[in-house]
Amino acid sequence: MKKILIFLLFQASLCLGQKAQIIRGPYLQSVTPTSVLVHWRTDIPSPSQVYYQAKGKVLRAIDKNRVIDHVLKLDQLKPATRYAYQIDHKSFDKNRYVVTAPAFGSKESVRIWALGDFGDGSASQKAVMNSIEAYTQGNRPDAWIWLGDNAYNNGKDEEYQKNVFEVYQDVFLQNLPIYPSPGNHDYAGKHNPSEPPYFKIFNMPVEGQGGGLPSHSESYYSVNYGPVHLIALDTEMQEASGLMLKDGNGNQVDWLKADLAANKLPWVVVYFHKPPYSKGSHDSDVELDMKSLREHVNPIFEQYKVDLVIAGHSHVYERSFPMRGHYGINETFDAASHVFAQSTDKNHYVVGPNGQGVIYVVSGSGGKFGGQRSGYPMKSSIYTNNTIGGSVLLDIDQKTFKLKWIQSDGQIGDGFVLEKR
Ligand SMILES: [Fe+2]
Repeated sequence: MKKILIFLLFQASLCLGQKAQIIRGPYLQSVTPTSVLVHWRTDIPSPSQVYYQAKGKVLRAIDKNRVIDHVLKLDQLKPATRYAYQIDHKSFDKNRYVVTAPAFGSKESVRIWALGDFGDGSASQKAVMNSIEAYTQGNRPDAWIWLGDNAYNNGKDEEYQKNVFEVYQDVFLQNLPIYPSPGNHDYAGKHNPSEPPYFKIFNMPVEGQGGGLPSHSESYYSVNYGPVHLIALDTEMQEASGLMLKDGNGNQVDWLKADLAANKLPWVVVYFHKPPYSKGSHDSDVELDMKSLREHVNPIFEQYKVDLVIAGHSHVYERSFPMRGHYGINETFDAASHVFAQSTDKNHYVVGPNGQGVIYVVSGSGGKFGGQRSGYPMKSSIYTNNTIGGSVLLDIDQKTFKLKWIQSDGQIGDGFVLEKR
């Protein structure tokens, strides 16, 4: 009898020894006013189980299929509500939570963090993260948009592990929803969306569940977050027809036009990787991707009165005038004909009923930083900086849109306010 008992205890200890360990995440995807996808990875296949809690009531979601890459949907949640959650056990941690998106039509203000060209494992990447953690103490971002080149050098799964998950996990990934876009490094310099690990790691709201028009493509999608319509595009993806975003034609562009036409929110931010204008580590006068984008897609942004286009790729910060019709090289910029704004204060624009020009920001120094090409700073730039890393915070309510560029040393390097009265 004693031998049997020892045997059973030994077996039990073996089972305990095989308990799955979380080796990635948890991280939050496709957060909407009523749902969230919780992702994580374990070292061995195991069932998926999440406990979550609001106002003292503990609920559980479970999927008994044994997997390594876990995706569990929590739904029937309340909008703009904080839920503590935990994987497998009920002891909640103060840093592990999700705040659902504001109800559609809500007038709540939101704070968005935009980060570009970050996953290189550098000291600057960590300094930029620390600057935002410090600056947002007491007023955390609601959503996190990624401007591409998220994991250097080739967007491999192990590069995401080392340069993204291991860097941001504790402070941001377990409580801040990510709405990513991919860069050329995430595509390893190619253009086929069936290849990059990016599309396996992330799970975008492409069926309109976030409030935008369904795109049915993980390359591009949109969400409504309080008063702002956020549109993520893909500058790297080539469609089966051979068309890319820069051609100003194809499925992505058709969807973009329809999505912009359907939007009813007061503010529109479009984000993607390669910028239409830059003289930082990339030159939009000579790089055909950027030139073509400017010529074929910028007119769409202007037509639909997009407020801000924000990109990365060039490892600097650059902020343009509110512009229309500037499709040529840097030297052809002419303030008298290309700047469209009622106000002359370059840091505070009051946007009239006819809108104003589109403001183009490059924020590609979330990890990488530096570089300049002939002609830097651009004639169309109001402010540029290539000497320190940084990232962008947007504070948006119904009538006011504030952008701040927060440097890695914690200083506010640039900023402006838009008002719609
Ligand atoms: Fe890039």
